[in-house]
Amino acid sequence: MTKKILITGGAGFIGSHVVRRFVNNYPRYQIVNLDLLTYAGNLENLKDIEQKPNYTFVKGDIADADFIQSLFAEHNFDGVIHLAAESHVDRSIMNPLEFVMTNVIGTVNLLNASRRLLESKPDFLFYHISTDEVYGSLGKEGFFTEETRYDPRSPYSASKASSDHLVRAYHHTYKMPVVISNCSNNYGPNQFPEKLIPLALYNMLQNKPVPVYGKGENIRDWLYVEDHAVAIDLIYHKGTTGETYNIGGHNEWRNIDLIKFLCSVMDRKLNRPTGSCEKLITFVKDRAGHDLRYAIDASKVKNELGWMPSLQFEEGLEKTVDWYLNNTEWLKHVTSGEYKNYYDSQYHKR
Ligand code: NAD
Ligand code: TYD
Repeated sequence: MTKKILITGGAGFIGSHVVRRFVNNYPRYQIVNLDLLTYAGNLENLKDIEQKPNYTFVKGDIADADFIQSLFAEHNFDGVIHLAAESHVDRSIMNPLEFVMTNVIGTVNLLNASRRLLESKPDFLFYHISTDEVYGSLGKEGFFTEETRYDPRSPYSASKASSDHLVRAYHHTYKMPVVISNCSNNYGPNQFPEKLIPLALYNMLQNKPVPVYGKGENIRDWLYVEDHAVAIDLIYHKGTTGETYNIGGHNEWRNIDLIKFLCSVMDRKLNRPTGSCEKLITFVKDRAGHDLRYAIDASKVKNELGWMPSLQFEEGLEKTVDWYLNNTEWLKHVTSGEYKNYYDSQYHKR
């Protein structure tokens, strides 16, 4: 069936994998990628598909209500897969308002424009891509399920929790068909080198200190980004309207153990003596309000839709390291300009 789908944030890390998957797997769909191309968005992530006839890129800001209304007037969308966001916790601590503007106001603008389509498009779907961070922080035991009470603790997670609540409110109040997924930490190609894995890799490559916050004892549940894109595809097509799905990697690592493992992979790939990269590990001041542990119970998406992560972490990390080592030009481009100033102030001088 022919459909026109708006994917927001498609030039970013996860969005680029989702856009590629939809453009390649569904040639009868028209995919419109809306992205502001902030420091985190880069069209080089989509070079291989930009000439495809079922792909269009539009540059614009989801926080601009007039622009969003005119985009929706021009395109008669059948669905929205909404990924555009400010996504880095450390930046949200420095500038919460930017996160409210994009993640909260931007989401409301998309919901308002979508609402106008409902009468003529009963099969319309608004799919919000969210994070497990809305559930707060776990102790040593237990997992986040879809029933876990929201308890966001950073400006980033609070902005994502707000947007989740607004999406649910439009479902209940205006009967908008919606679906939400809350995913654990992603890793893989195209991830901006401000998040833990690509930042550590980038610094190891340059023989610069690798910052580990606090004692490195915080735990994250890591998922390869293409496995997330597969889950998004399944949920978009087969998920139940009004439902939430948790997505996770069944793959918990303490930060320090993950970084040491990455060090061993990098030593091998760069032909450095064993232990070279570990010498770069530098314990730095802890993040304010640092959540201790995230871990997802993904049994709902497994039981209802048959989704499971396909890659073991060792394999995914190997692929990720290979991608970054083969794409040093990409690294050079994304770390020039605005990001360079941020990086220098945050990491270089530590
Ligand atoms: P990212 O920062 O790599 O990409 C975000 C994209 O949104 C960029 O291309 C950026 O240019 C665009 N964008 C930012 N502000 C915009 C605006 N005002 N208007 C239009 N476009 C704008 O983020 P990501 O890691 O790919 O995350 C994508 C989504 O997935 C986010 O909603 C995030 O909350 C969610 N998520 C991320 C993770 C993760 O581990 N990265 C895990 C779970 C959920
Ligand atoms: P990050 O990749 O920023 O994702 P999130 O905060 O959304 O989970 O961080 C992952 C973990 O790594 C988190 O516990 C913070 C920690 N961390 C470091 O120790 N050093 C770093 O330089 C960064 C960016 C993160």
